[in-house]
Amino acid sequence: MVKISASILSADFANLQQDLQKLESSNIDMLHIDVMDGNFVPNISIGAPVIKSLRKHSKLVFDVHLMIQRPELAIIDYIQAGADIITIHPETTIHLDRTLDLITKYGVKAGVSLMPASSPSLLDYVMDKIDVILIMTVNPGFAGQTFIASQLEKVRIVAEKVKNYKKKILIAVDGGINQLTAQECIKAGSDILVCGSFIFNSHDYRAQVLKLKNQ
Ligand code: DX5
Ligand code: ZN
Repeated sequence: MVKISASILSADFANLQQDLQKLESSNIDMLHIDVMDGNFVPNISIGAPVIKSLRKHSKLVFDVHLMIQRPELAIIDYIQAGADIITIHPETTIHLDRTLDLITKYGVKAGVSLMPASSPSLLDYVMDKIDVILIMTVNPGFAGQTFIASQLEKVRIVAEKVKNYKKKILIAVDGGINQLTAQECIKAGSDILVCGSFIFNSHDYRAQVLKLKNQ
């Protein structure tokens, strides 16, 4: 069954603990934490100190999506804060291979994210170092954007790439996920749906998660 990684970017930042508790009991599989630096993407969100505080209140898998330049300078901070998965964008680091080594060295799972205009060929020489491929289905930076349908083809291409690969690599999609787009992404080969607005726009998070899972 598809896994749901709920994005806390859409949470009420003044009541994070309360929203976290609601998510904990809503049958999600992971907590997606968007870290934005106002440089690689045009928005600033939260960083390692907030993740460290959340860690004390949650046993969920922390799926940390770094949308920051030079992530290699901060990866240790995010590992110490309690990340279980760290996903980076190839365009943000000169030595992608080395940066992925830095993540996996500490037993943390590594992900590579592709923006809508990024080619799947960026994955070619790092497949053995990654556990997750995060396909952006919006341009990163904001919650609540419209799903970019052209990315479904990319999901299919990447699914084909990982199908016969020697180890299991999960495919995640991020941005504009709702009941309809979830269905299309699952059909194209997604294992994980990252979802913010669709869950947070309702009072009943559990019901929303169920709608996404029951595709
Ligand atoms: C966008 C972020 C997403 C975002 C998803 O830059 O990476 O994780 O929070 O939010 P929705 O589901 O509202 O598109
Ligand atoms: Zn994200």
